[in-house]
Amino acid sequence: MLESAFICTSCKKPYEGQEIPTLCSCGQPLEIRLDLVKTASATATATINQTDLSLWRYRSVLPPIKDEYITTLIEGWTALNRAEDYLGVSLYFKDETVNPTGSFKDRGMSLAISHLRSYGIRAVCLPSAGNAGVAAAAYCQEAGIECHVYLPETIPTPFVEATEKYGATVRLVGKTIADASNAMKKEKHETWFDLSTLKEPFRVEGKKTLGYEIAEQLEWCFPDVVVYPTGGGTGLMGMWKAFNEMKEMGWVEGNLPRMVVVQSSGCAPIVNAFEKGLKKHQPWQKPETSALGLNVPNPIGGSWMLRVLQESTGIAVMVEEEEIPAAWKEVAVVSGTKPSPEAGVAWLGFKSLVDSGWIHPKEVVIIPITGSGERYG
Ligand SMILES: Cc1ncc(COP(=O)(O)O)c(C=O)c1O
Ligand SMILES: [Zn+2]
Repeated sequence: MLESAFICTSCKKPYEGQEIPTLCSCGQPLEIRLDLVKTASATATATINQTDLSLWRYRSVLPPIKDEYITTLIEGWTALNRAEDYLGVSLYFKDETVNPTGSFKDRGMSLAISHLRSYGIRAVCLPSAGNAGVAAAAYCQEAGIECHVYLPETIPTPFVEATEKYGATVRLVGKTIADASNAMKKEKHETWFDLSTLKEPFRVEGKKTLGYEIAEQLEWCFPDVVVYPTGGGTGLMGMWKAFNEMKEMGWVEGNLPRMVVVQSSGCAPIVNAFEKGLKKHQPWQKPETSALGLNVPNPIGGSWMLRVLQESTGIAVMVEEEEIPAAWKEVAVVSGTKPSPEAGVAWLGFKSLVDSGWIHPKEVVIIPITGSGERYG
């Protein structure tokens, strides 16, 4: 089994707090560092469990956990579909709509709930823009853990129904995930574990499997570019971590991908900071976007996202909120999926980067279709 340590993503201090890792004492998120040396000696195909058709096929590169705690609904190992070339660019869509609760959030929750279960946690709480809450409810139900989900009042009813269907309690409060989060902090019982984005390091490990799958599905090659509709950023960090680990282990050779953050003009704190060359974002005032998962005005992982962009020589792109509905329809046709509006944001970002020449003909580009449109009515 791998050895693992928790390291601060900002000040790089090892975590020395209570038994369950949360945030660093400096307030920034922790990252799990795995001792990949043993794994590095083996090839990828010898190390992964090819008979496992879920993200747990990559268990050998995930933080160690005993069998009895693993909480899975068979998430991950989703199709990577080649689309028609777009102006000479080789385009692939990773279809995350087919995950058990309809979004890529299932990846993070499978890992987080498995590990919290191993620590003996009996109840969790989190604020959500919709999908993470549904996923948390489903995995908590599977694990026998109590789940409290805080959602903005503006959320479409099907999200509330789905969260409750999985046995979670729902509290509707405020206009954005930030308002829901503030209410949660006030009302939280001391025995509830805070499962908010990046307040524990396991959800990123689950999202990491997206990156492993993309490389495996490209026959152990890196794409040139990944275009990601970004809110809290765990998918971006997770994929970047995966690509770096695979490079370190020698599983994949060649240049690491360039990572792209796409946000709507209704809420674009990371694009704003990137364009100004800042290392830290400023909270976005009056956030409002139809791409609900991107309505995150003050993400705790802002500096981490900006580091990913810098390290990967990536870019952050803002797209016009008014253009999302038409792009949402278009990307459904081009990708052959029934996506949520976030896919429209990624699609607009991708097209603008091809138009501007930042993405070149012949490059291989991945757009994750992060969630299903089913609950948006
Ligand atoms: C469908 C969808 N896409 C993208 C995102 C943004 O993901 P991340 O928090 O990893 O930036 C979310 C988050 O809620 C989402 O639900
Ligand atoms: Zn720190």
